[in-house]
Amino acid sequence: MIVKIKKMIKNNIQILIVNFGGQYCHLIARRIRDLGVYSGIVPYDITAKEIKEQNPKGIILSGGPSSVNKKNAPICDKNILNLNIPILGICYGHQLIAKLSKGKVSKGKINEYGKKQLIVKATSLLKGLKTKEQAWMSHGDSVTRLPSQFNTLAKTDTCPIASFENIQKNLYGVQFHPEVVHTPKGKVVLKNFIFSICKSKKDYDIGNLKNKLIQEIKQTVGNTHVIMGASGGVDSTVAAVLISKAIGKRLHCVFIDHGLIRKNELNSVKERYKRFKLDVKYVDASKLFLRKLNKVTDPEKKRKIIGHAFIEVFENVAKKLRKKHNVKFLGQGTIYPDRIESAQPSKQADKIKSHHNLTLPEKMNLKVIEPLKDLYKDGVRELGEKLNIPKEILHRHPFPGPGLAIRILGEITPERLRILREADYIYIEELIKTKQYYKIWQAFAALLPVKTVGVMGDARTYEYLITLRAVTSKDAMTADWAKIPNHILEKISNRIINEVKGANRIVYDITQKPPGTIEYE
Ligand code: XMP
Repeated sequence: MIVKIKKMIKNNIQILIVNFGGQYCHLIARRIRDLGVYSGIVPYDITAKEIKEQNPKGIILSGGPSSVNKKNAPICDKNILNLNIPILGICYGHQLIAKLSKGKVSKGKINEYGKKQLIVKATSLLKGLKTKEQAWMSHGDSVTRLPSQFNTLAKTDTCPIASFENIQKNLYGVQFHPEVVHTPKGKVVLKNFIFSICKSKKDYDIGNLKNKLIQEIKQTVGNTHVIMGASGGVDSTVAAVLISKAIGKRLHCVFIDHGLIRKNELNSVKERYKRFKLDVKYVDASKLFLRKLNKVTDPEKKRKIIGHAFIEVFENVAKKLRKKHNVKFLGQGTIYPDRIESAQPSKQADKIKSHHNLTLPEKMNLKVIEPLKDLYKDGVRELGEKLNIPKEILHRHPFPGPGLAIRILGEITPERLRILREADYIYIEELIKTKQYYKIWQAFAALLPVKTVGVMGDARTYEYLITLRAVTSKDAMTADWAKIPNHILEKISNRIINEVKGANRIVYDITQKPPGTIEYE
């Protein structure tokens, strides 16, 4: 997969970010794109030769959870430091530059975590910073001896080498994280690096991108046809509208109702697509899915069954369409993090969940067309605005491919589906009414397959437990639980218990990701 990713990333990336597994790697890429410069992520085992072929203006070595002194630590090709392409190391990357240049990195007495005061020598990389600036740190190891020809640019009271430079070799490092908001001058540091040091030119603008993508789709597809699964979600809708702008009615969308969608979802999707004059075939496959899921409780089994059934149904529709049209392409709403995730450095990384939507094209004899493949979610939304897609669609919360199957823990039954649909509908309705919805990355109800005792009127009840989840996040990689005001939660809880037969207790989930995940299964 890593090899494939390397090939997919084409030469026009100005700033290459070498990924050592840091949780902020995507954030670095996004910050640089926000500054108008196209950036992309590559795995840490990329070779100097491969980088040279891509001819970037600059390289960033990202942070990462390991220690450069550990036996199996991810270490990049040493020759990258000799390419004479400017390099900025961030946190782990900063320590790696020091280590590879024969400096010393040691475990500190204490870990530095959180906001720290930097004492700054404001030249080159740190130009424009005051003598004292706030910066955000998160590290155990530190650079304790500078390699020769390096100068210190900043320190904190516990970290004597918090930033360095080697002007001759164009190497720079920061122990702190310039990409996070808790480093207020982080943007200045990144700007200094990409514009003053790397001499990058602004080349990244969503407005221009729209026309460029439409042209590319036209060229690629020629006069053939495209089929695509459309879920009504942000990514597939933006991708479908974009493709239809390029090829009109030669795009055929398929909406598969797997019986695990939310209340009213089918109607609202139909209305949405009608507005964009998309050709959509609606397939009711709910009986098939629910039969296959009967009595299945294991989360991964559920995901696999749904994934396979999805492909089966989709292939049948595709077969029929291909009898009528010259369908050569499968359109997909894949976005950048979807495909880059698989290039994470940890080869032993646990598979947490199988996301089924990525496996679809493998079996089909169609070429894949993914116009959003280089965009982050915020870029997709911006592009959607340029395509006149309304805010209610662009800012809808994500909904997972396997739908309510992974929000009903344990067995899926029609009764449980009914209860969950009703509860979730009330929850979301109240969040919209109280203007909380757009402050939240994702909110949903889930049904826990345990019953609790309650009392309604004078009667004993023994019904299901509903849990409410709401998280704030930037990209779903990490998430915090949303601090919805108590009175709103209270109203939601009262409404669900009063209006939904079969649920008698509501809990609010306050788990962060990590250690939790956003979905329950
Ligand atoms: P987790 O639960 O892994 O979810 O923290 C992260 C984000 O991914 C969504 N999700 C999925 N999306 N197909 C999807 O399209 C899937 O199989 C799937 N599983 C999780 C989840 O809703 C959250 O936004």
